[in-house]
Amino acid sequence: MSWLLLLSLLALCSGFAYWLLVTTEGTYLGARTVALLYDRVADRYDQIKRFKPEHEQALLARPILWALRERPAPLVLDVATGTGRIPILLLEWGAFDGKVVGLDLARRMLALAARKAARYQERVAFVWQTAMQLPFRDNSFDLVSCLEALEFMPRPKRALAEIVRVVRPGGLVVTTRRRGWERKLMPGKCWSAEECRALLGALGLERVRLLPWQTDYDLVWAWKPDGGPLPPDDRSERWFEMLLRCPACSGQPLLRQGATVCCSRCGRCYPVAADGVLELAGSRSPRPDGVRR
Ligand SMILES: C[S@@+](CC[C@H](N)C(=O)[O-])C[C@H]1O[C@@H](n2cnc3c(N)ncnc32)[C@H](O)[C@@H]1O
Repeated sequence: MSWLLLLSLLALCSGFAYWLLVTTEGTYLGARTVALLYDRVADRYDQIKRFKPEHEQALLARPILWALRERPAPLVLDVATGTGRIPILLLEWGAFDGKVVGLDLARRMLALAARKAARYQERVAFVWQTAMQLPFRDNSFDLVSCLEALEFMPRPKRALAEIVRVVRPGGLVVTTRRRGWERKLMPGKCWSAEECRALLGALGLERVRLLPWQTDYDLVWAWKPDGGPLPPDDRSERWFEMLLRCPACSGQPLLRQGATVCCSRCGRCYPVAADGVLELAGSRSPRPDGVRR
């Protein structure tokens, strides 16, 4: 084999590895790989992103609060919250009087989010879990956000369907659509504007709006139509447990027992770590009868 051929092969392999691990952030290698890659950069994530507070407030916090203005003490879920972008933004905004849950599959990203939000612990909760199976009751949140993340998930459409399931009738979904030429490098993970509108419409959302937001993302706003059953509105100190649904048996409610949260139907218990993060992913906690999941 000539040197030239060998060098070409090497360049091809390096290019492919770069595409797999950097350009597409491991999305074609599965959810665990994506989480692992985010865990590796967790400490530097905020520095890399360098969100501008004035942009965050003008383009996210203000419009979100305006959209929620008729909802007293709204409940917000931020799926793929990373280091807590939406929870921190809302909690630090004086006008927000609601509660926020952040969910992510990268545990170290969540550890940072929990640390940053520590002084708001009565009004915030973090869950380590995949977005493919949201551990919440149907129709529960006034707003569900998922920013810059769907394309890194194994099945973005399924994650969207889960998001739509847990937002309450009349509630708002805020997400992002990858735009620009890089979108073409992630086949099957990104959508054109038309595909995005059609997909959200097929999931039952209405008033879908795509707004140019960042160089590589549109911000997508869509509403779930009013009507349909609403779960009881629990605003007590057990507000977080009351939102949960057991990932193993879909039972509810889940009840706090010491440093665990346990399903009242199947009895499985899930640990709450010292930093307050509810650890569902990777949880292999025994049932009271000793059977492991
Ligand atoms: C680019 S970051 C965005 C974080 C945050 N939304 C923000 O805007 O700063 C993508 C996030 O998606 C999370 N993620 C990727 N796949 C996931 C999955 N299947 N379930 C939950 N989170 C996931 C990653 O761990 C990472 O924190």
